[in-house]
Amino acid sequence: MGRVQDKVVFITGAARGQGRAHALRLAEEGADIIAVDLCAQIDSVGYPLASAEDLEETASQVEKLGRSIVTSTVDVRDPAGLQAAVTAGVAELGRLDAVVAQAGIAPINNPAGQAFIDAVTVDFNGVVNAVEAALPYLPDGGSIVATGSAAALLPPTHDGTPDAGKLGYSFAKRSVAAFVNDLAIVLAPRRIRVNAVHPTNTNTPMLNSDPMYQVFRPDLDHPKREDALKAFESMTAMGLPYVEPSDIAAAVLFLLSDESRYVTGAQLRVDAGVIINRRLPQPQF
Ligand SMILES: NC(=O)c1ccc[n+]([C@@H]2O[C@H](COP(=O)([O-])OP(=O)(O)OC[C@H]3O[C@@H](n4cnc5c(N)ncnc54)[C@H](O)[C@@H]3O)[C@@H](O)[C@H]2O)c1
Repeated sequence: MGRVQDKVVFITGAARGQGRAHALRLAEEGADIIAVDLCAQIDSVGYPLASAEDLEETASQVEKLGRSIVTSTVDVRDPAGLQAAVTAGVAELGRLDAVVAQAGIAPINNPAGQAFIDAVTVDFNGVVNAVEAALPYLPDGGSIVATGSAAALLPPTHDGTPDAGKLGYSFAKRSVAAFVNDLAIVLAPRRIRVNAVHPTNTNTPMLNSDPMYQVFRPDLDHPKREDALKAFESMTAMGLPYVEPSDIAAAVLFLLSDESRYVTGAQLRVDAGVIINRRLPQPQF
């Protein structure tokens, strides 16, 4: 038997990156998947988001593992769209046990107010909307995981030239951390567990992008990946430039499995020591 055998998991942002890694790792361990992704661009984001073909590829890889998947193209800023996707998935797969709310954007290196708003509405409101869509179906003992970031546990920074998208990302991720903490209190009587995973830099298209290289290497005009790698490395106590999506999927699998049945309200850092490196007081939720 798998570690999440016959559970049905709703994943946002499942077309590629960490979302695809979660879908595949959970399917390997016996889960069926309800997957959504925007499959379109958001103007404030300076790198391409996933495509419909990416979402089809996730579906095809889950099916090759012998599990079922129901996909929908939905914006996590659209609560009704998410509710329709979950309802369709439950109608086909028969139940819902868990949520991985992890669709996200990093509209960084962008001074426009819209970049701040987009980061907040996708990266925070999108998490709330995903949970809202799932909650009517979640049984007692269900599990909710939201993806934050190491940025959720660090104070916002700017150097006098505000990067609206970066500040919005930081605000949204800090809000995700607080939301998880307080929702865990609300849902504990039903033994529905609510936890956050906070990745450091992770080897996905979000990280491997020109805006990210520029934010990490403000001293260069058009930095490339190799220019950014040293700066990535300097963040982590372990000296790694990034972790792999499979490292985050391992944490998500644990938090969705019954092995973690009494773990709730956790802020689980998969950060190769970013936070311990900073020696800052930790946020009190
Ligand atoms: N990659 C990193 O370095 C890193 C570090 C810390 C946290 N994170 C977080 O991890 C999560 C996953 O990101 P990733 O690294 O896999 O990046 P990614 O860009 O590869 O994947 C994000 C996915 O979310 C989808 N998406 C974006 N906006 C959406 C919307 N409005 N509605 C539905 N789907 C939408 C994208 O199309 C894409 O498939 C995000 O929440 C991100 O903030 C990433």
